[in-house]
Amino acid sequence: MNLKILDLFCGAGGAAAGYFQGFSEAGFTVEVTGVDINSQPRYPFNFCQGDALEFFDKYEHEFDFLHASTPCQKHSVLKAVAEKEYPCFIEATRCRFKATGKPYCIENVVGAPLEFPITLCGLNFGIPMHGHRLFECRPIILSPPPCQTNLKTQKCGRKPEETRLLARPAGHFAGLAIYRQAMGVPGMTQSEIAQCIPPAFTRWIAGQMLNQLSNFDIYNRL
Ligand SMILES: C[S@@+](CC[C@H](N)C(=O)[O-])C[C@H]1O[C@@H](n2cnc3c(N)ncnc32)[C@H](O)[C@@H]1O
Repeated sequence: MNLKILDLFCGAGGAAAGYFQGFSEAGFTVEVTGVDINSQPRYPFNFCQGDALEFFDKYEHEFDFLHASTPCQKHSVLKAVAEKEYPCFIEATRCRFKATGKPYCIENVVGAPLEFPITLCGLNFGIPMHGHRLFECRPIILSPPPCQTNLKTQKCGRKPEETRLLARPAGHFAGLAIYRQAMGVPGMTQSEIAQCIPPAFTRWIAGQMLNQLSNFDIYNRL
């Protein structure tokens, strides 16, 4: 069965890589197309440079599964120190996604206005990184148990120590090679990693969505 995935605001493809793995493992022949306003020379699938929502309005009918990693600066804790105003694409994206009736996922940071999101942490997947991301999924899937640890988290910007968990990478973080390996994104640059999610997150979401979708008409359409 073929599955065409649209990956809006795709960055260097952390989310896309996980969907590709998860849906391929379930037996689908997966084709992913990413859209980003900036050039993404290391994006590993079909790529189109341009505005995500404009692309969606023209080509959405070609896809079976929709994902958006809308920019998170507006909702990030660092917004307090930034003087710039950032746009929020969540509402505009959700309206479009819901109108299609297709399965979708919108990803963002803690504090973003997502509807009934689940929370994923690196620790849920054996990644020694304490950092949470929210995922609004339709159909709704259940959160894994909350992460638990007695280990302290590395202070942001400090060189990683073996006895501490990695902090979510941001800005110019130390220990690029350690983050690449831990997050499962071997080819990414520092700035790409600072924006990406570990593919393990979306690989897991793919499996959970398929459990829910067995009753969904995606199987009838493919
Ligand atoms: C959080 S990053 C995506 C990270 C990606 N999901 C990953 O896991 O690697 C958000 C991306 O949105 C892109 N972006 C910002 N505004 C955009 C727009 N109007 N249309 C398309 N992409 C946009 C940025 O260039 C950035 O790469």
